[in-house]
Amino acid sequence: MQERLRETTGSTAELTCGAASAGRSTTTMLTVVSLLLALFAVSSAQQQLQQPNFTHQAVLDPNGKFRLNWSPATNGNDYFTFECVVATRGWIGLGFSTNGAMAAADMVIAWVDASGRPQISDRHGPAQGNGFPPADSKQDYELVSGRKNNTHTVITFRRKQDTCDPQDWKITSDTTRLIWAYNDQVPTSADDIPKHTERGVKSAQLINPQTKDGMATILADPSTKIYDLRLTNVKLPTDKRTLYWCEIIELPNWNKHHVIANRMMVQKGNERYVHHMVMYGCGEEDMSEYLGKPAACFDDMEVFNPMHKCSDYRAVWAVGGEDFVYPSNMGSPIFGNSKQRFVLLEMHYDNPDLKPGISDSSAFRLYLTEKLRPVETGRLTIGQGVSPVAIAIPPKQQRFTTYVYCPGKCTSRMTEPINVFTGLLHTHLLGVAMRVRVIRNGVEIKSDMRDDHYDFNYQTPVYLSKPLVIMPGDDIIVECTYGSMDRETLSYGGFGSDNEMCLALMEYYPKRNITTEACMSFVDPKNLTEILGLKKDQVNIAGDGGFGNNKVTVINQKKQNVTITNWYKNDLKVTSDMATKLQDFMKNSPETVYCGLQGRDSPGGNVTDGTLFPIDGPIKNPRPYVEPAAVCTASSGSGSTTTSQPTRATTNRG
Ligand SMILES: *[C@@H]1O[C@H](CO)[C@@H](O)[C@H](O)[C@H]1NC(C)=O
Ligand SMILES: *[C@@H]1O[C@H](CO)[C@@H](O)[C@H](O)[C@H]1NC(C)=O
Ligand SMILES: *[C@@H]1O[C@H](CO)[C@@H](O)[C@H](O)[C@H]1NC(C)=O
Ligand SMILES: *[C@@H]1O[C@H](CO)[C@@H](O)[C@H](O)[C@H]1NC(C)=O
Ligand SMILES: *[C@@H]1O[C@H](CO)[C@@H](O)[C@H](O)[C@H]1NC(C)=O
Ligand SMILES: *[C@@H]1O[C@H](CO)[C@@H](O)[C@H](O)[C@H]1NC(C)=O
Repeated sequence: MQERLRETTGSTAELTCGAASAGRSTTTMLTVVSLLLALFAVSSAQQQLQQPNFTHQAVLDPNGKFRLNWSPATNGNDYFTFECVVATRGWIGLGFSTNGAMAAADMVIAWVDASGRPQISDRHGPAQGNGFPPADSKQDYELVSGRKNNTHTVITFRRKQDTCDPQDWKITSDTTRLIWAYNDQVPTSADDIPKHTERGVKSAQLINPQTKDGMATILADPSTKIYDLRLTNVKLPTDKRTLYWCEIIELPNWNKHHVIANRMMVQKGNERYVHHMVMYGCGEEDMSEYLGKPAACFDDMEVFNPMHKCSDYRAVWAVGGEDFVYPSNMGSPIFGNSKQRFVLLEMHYDNPDLKPGISDSSAFRLYLTEKLRPVETGRLTIGQGVSPVAIAIPPKQQRFTTYVYCPGKCTSRMTEPINVFTGLLHTHLLGVAMRVRVIRNGVEIKSDMRDDHYDFNYQTPVYLSKPLVIMPGDDIIVECTYGSMDRETLSYGGFGSDNEMCLALMEYYPKRNITTEACMSFVDPKNLTEILGLKKDQVNIAGDGGFGNNKVTVINQKKQNVTITNWYKNDLKVTSDMATKLQDFMKNSPETVYCGLQGRDSPGGNVTDGTLFPIDGPIKNPRPYVEPAAVCTASSGSGSTTTSQPTRATTNRG
């Protein structure tokens, strides 16, 4: 009764009447009030005990009207609990979708009916297109509680991580597209749900350990210091959509600290232009000549010189990303080394409408402590050369995969195993899936550094549920899968959003005694362009190609000397035969590996650059890792096809 008072307007009306009749005598009134207060106290205490404390939160719509709280399954409890808090008094819908579309998505619809009873219904999108979502034959979403007030409906429900129902989504550590919808009308039954009036899609990581609690502790600790790395008033161009802006920043001469968290501080109003930012360390390079001379990082084929010297990625944020918080025993060292004085900030701006007059001074905020933590972290990058002759993706491909090879010969330069605990998988617009595979003595080990539902617009460092151990001598394969159905011409490696990348940026512990590690592989550029119909003597490659830093020109049919990218755009017609050969080439051709180990504090103190060495074909994977079959024993749902009955009594309604 007291819960209804608080939570449904219907009951409030009921009680107001009661109070009014009691109000004839002041004493009675006071008694009623104190009784009510007592009931309130009891109910909020109960509430605290009964309500799960949600570890994850997300706001799904731009106006903050659809909020989702959830707690992932934990050991011994394989249920995910979700709470939808939505600014409606009608029905609310949440779905899990491969690509953001309603077709074949796993959906749940819930509402509080006219008599104040919460209702839930496990449903799924039609096989194709949009339309009324039919009810699942097996109901796997269990109502925990539901209530509404004058403005909001709050529904809490739970489901198993894997319900074993092919009509449901199996929750994984992949990026998940959450589709949401609502309508202010209250359905009369589960068979009579009016079409949504609002809907949308938002990507989220459903399993990652949540870092917000850690952030609260860091913010509350008076010994936490902050240091902002701020760009100075960058003017966005109006003649091109993409701008990569690079600025060298000199670090203050402070004692050694640990970075324990970082937060992106996007300049207010610029949210839609700021796409991603990376902070790189410059090792012991003296970058003072670049101070005060920020510039575009990449100008067609030219690369801002510091890019080559500052390649130790320290922090990364991209659209949709949140605060990054280190585990409480770990920190990433900064300051305290008078030789490591410089960092490079690289910001990717995206101004699709070429809006004029935008200037930006966004910043990375580092949260620091001088109370050094026991474990220090380091970073490792494995990827494909960033060059138009290192990555080539034919148009109209459902799935096209490129392969990065980092052989044991390179990883054996590590002196001890490393534990990768977080990282960022990075491709551009065409990326649909990516994974890091580790092969040890011919057997692939399980790796959670993967995402089969990659979303360019949701790039955030992922915490692995268990560290990925890389031993000296392990072979590593990074696979990037692209979908190019909506492209008409060849897509190629490059730094713009329309070009492609394939990089796995990983952070590990304990830190090794070197400043930069990278393992980048390259296919043979002339063998690649030969597949596209160019004779070897038509192609000229200048530059070292180390990080794809080469200038490639082509003598075309009209005997003109053009850049390879212009040749791709204007002269090349990709045939299906070329596409097939290209896929085989990207997988099976010999590659050159840049095995980078920079820094004068490397073993011997003399290795200042990486080495390039050839591998004569793909890394073999004699025993690929096979995911154990899902164990689906107990049925979690009611098994009933009736959708309007709550499957579990709601404790919240008393
Ligand atoms: C939820 O958090 C509160 C405050 O931190 C705590 O008192 C309560 O016991 C927690 N409840 C559960 C179910 O963990
Ligand atoms: C209605 O419920 C929402 C969600 O719990 C809450 O934020 C809001 O404050 C409530 N409104 C009132 C008037 O209690
Ligand atoms: C084409 O032009 C580039 C510079 O733009 C030059 O380096 C290259 O040698 C030229 N190729 C030929 C065959 O002239
Ligand atoms: C390039 O192709 C030629 C054959 O055309 C082959 O002999 C050579 O090994 C290839 N080189 C690389 C590095 O792929
Ligand atoms: C790391 O290198 C520095 C400088 O070469 C040296 O003083 C230090 O002892 C090394 N630390 C470890 C753990 O090897
Ligand atoms: C660096 O020094 C070590 C030990 O003195 C030596 O074995 C190695 O060959 C040197 N490497 C280079 C690239 O000079």
